Amino acid sequence: MIYLNNKLVPKNKALISVFDHGFLYGDGIYETLRVYKGIIFKLEEHVDRLFRSAEMIGLTVPKSSRDIKKAVYKTIASNRQNEAVVRITISRGTGPLGLDPALCPKPTFVIMSNQFYNYPSEYYAKGVNVSVVNTRRNYGPALDPRIKSLNFLNNVLAKIEAKESSSYEAVMMNYQGYLAEGTVSNLFFINSKGVLCTPALKVGILDGITRGVILDAAEELKIKTKEGYFRRKDIYNATEVFITNTSMEVMPVTLVDNIRIGRKAGTHTGLIGLKYKEKVLHYIEANSQ
Ligand code: PDD
Repeated sequence: MIYLNNKLVPKNKALISVFDHGFLYGDGIYETLRVYKGIIFKLEEHVDRLFRSAEMIGLTVPKSSRDIKKAVYKTIASNRQNEAVVRITISRGTGPLGLDPALCPKPTFVIMSNQFYNYPSEYYAKGVNVSVVNTRRNYGPALDPRIKSLNFLNNVLAKIEAKESSSYEAVMMNYQGYLAEGTVSNLFFINSKGVLCTPALKVGILDGITRGVILDAAEELKIKTKEGYFRRKDIYNATEVFITNTSMEVMPVTLVDNIRIGRKAGTHTGLIGLKYKEKVLHYIEANSQ
C-alpha cells in the first residue's frame, strides 16, 4: 500500500498527474528512513530535515510533523513490514506548465515503504570500491546540497561516471576541489594519526542523519574527529575509508580510484559499525512500548 495525499491506496492505484511539478521540474523534496523491528530510526530527525528542506524551497508541508509520523507508521503497518526502507516524497503538486510555485495550490504527498533486504555481506567484510568523479557537487548558492530535493541530476551524473569505472559509489568534490560526499552517502576516513575525518557541512553536503550518529559514536569510542576541508590525496593516504547512509549504515571502502586502502574492513570502521548497531538497538528499546 502507498500513502497518497490523505489515504492508503494499493500500489497500482497510486498514480499522480503528468502535470505534477515534481515530474516536470524536479520541484520537491524527500526523505529516506529505515525501519528496524517496526520502529523508525531517528524519525524525529528525518521529519525535522524534511521541514528544513521544505522551508529552503518555499514549500508548505501539507501536514503537521505529528500527522506525518502517524502516516508513516500507518503505511508500514498496512504493509506489515518490520524491516523496511520508507520514502516520504513531497512535490510542489499539480499545476499548468510554468515555474511559479503559485501554479500548484496543493503539494503531492507520498509515503512508500519497501521491505529492507540486506546488502551482500561481503560488501561489509571486504569493502566496496569508490571513485572520485569529475562531476562536482552542486554549488551551494546555486542549489544547496543541504536540501534533500527531488532534483537529483547532479547525483545521477556522478553515478553514471562511477558506473563507467565499475565503482560502487562516486565521491564528488565541491566546486573548489574539496571532498564533499557520495551520490547517496556521506564520506568518512581515518587519517594516519587515527583521527576520524569527514567533510565539513560548509563544504556543501547533505547533513546526513547517519553522519550525525557516527560522529556521536566516535566520541563515545573516544576516537578523535575532524570535520574539515580535505583533498583527494587525503583519502588516498587514509588508513581506512567508509561511506554512510540510512540504509547501508557503515559501509567500508577498500579501493579508491583503484588505490588499495585495505583488503578488509578496518579496525576503526568495524568498531564504529558495531557502535552504530548498538545505538540503533538502544533507540529501538527506548522507542518501543
Ligand atoms: N540518501 N548525501 C546524499 C547526497 C544523500 O542522498 C544521502 C542519503 C546522504 C546520507 O544521509 P542519511 O544518513 O541521512 O541517509 C548523504 C538517501 C539514503 C537516499 O537518497 O535514498
